[in-house]
Amino acid sequence: MRSYRHHFHAGNHADVLKHLVLMLLLEHMGKKDKAFRCIDTHAGAGRYSLAPPGPQAEWMTGIGRLWAAPKLSPDLERFRARILGLNPGGNLRTYPGSPAWAQMLCRTQDDIRLFEWHPTDHRALSGAPALRADPRVRISAADGLAGLKALLPPPSRRALVLIDPPYENATEYRAVLDTLSMALQRFPTGVYALWYPELALAAACKLPAALERLPAPWLRAHLHLRRPGPDGTGLTGSGMFVLNPPWTLAEQLTGLLADLTRLLGEGGQGGWDLRQSPENSSARS
Ligand SMILES: C[S@@+](CC[C@H](N)C(=O)[O-])C[C@H]1O[C@@H](n2cnc3c(N)ncnc32)[C@H](O)[C@@H]1O
Repeated sequence: MRSYRHHFHAGNHADVLKHLVLMLLLEHMGKKDKAFRCIDTHAGAGRYSLAPPGPQAEWMTGIGRLWAAPKLSPDLERFRARILGLNPGGNLRTYPGSPAWAQMLCRTQDDIRLFEWHPTDHRALSGAPALRADPRVRISAADGLAGLKALLPPPSRRALVLIDPPYENATEYRAVLDTLSMALQRFPTGVYALWYPELALAAACKLPAALERLPAPWLRAHLHLRRPGPDGTGLTGSGMFVLNPPWTLAEQLTGLLADLTRLLGEGGQGGWDLRQSPENSSARS
């Protein structure tokens, strides 16, 4: 099944968490001169025209809330300023997907590998003038989970991998675990960032604990923001799971998760959680 289209969800609370963590990781990777490879296994369309405000416009309770906030903490302000760069005049019309964040924050020496298998989104991605003109970018219409193997380890021995599946069916939960296990075997020091949903589904509930058993230092940032719908379904929150996280990430995220909960939580309510593996905590002290 390939029915998922990200433009319905672009800029929602899950995108805000995902892209904020992605921004922090890319900024960290850019602190060393040595080149790195950014791999996005589920790239989507690259950037999105936001739907007019209305009940169906998910961005209004995501990036729309940050846009309207009078004052933000420095990391959130930087996040907002980068999006403002795509929206001259200040009216929020365009929202950057993960490929646009990679383009903004990778340097000339870095390279960007994008996978998108949906024909419509692949066409949008590979036809986008900004991506076509960028010599750092290669786009593939192949399966990103399968295609990752051939890109690891990268020549520079530095990589950030974003894995952002739609979780349309239960097999994807197993597939991300298998892919991360494979990736750690081929390239144990890569930084791997996986987005995962908070849903009332057995496979979704079991995933975080299974991820924490992977053999590498990890960090998990989670936001719970909504009550489920009347039938018990719906995306109530989400998380980012990072393998080999920068040691500064936990400290950066502590204040940010509290801010995001306040800004994005339904009725100002919600909760957040930040966990790390013991070896990661000890690496910090
Ligand atoms: C959640 S969206 C990606 C959003 C994007 N990462 C962003 O942050 O802007 C998931 C995308 O992955 C694509 N997709 C799903 N499974 C895939 C696979 N195995 N390989 C490549 N693309 C896939 C879908 O068509 C969809 O566009």
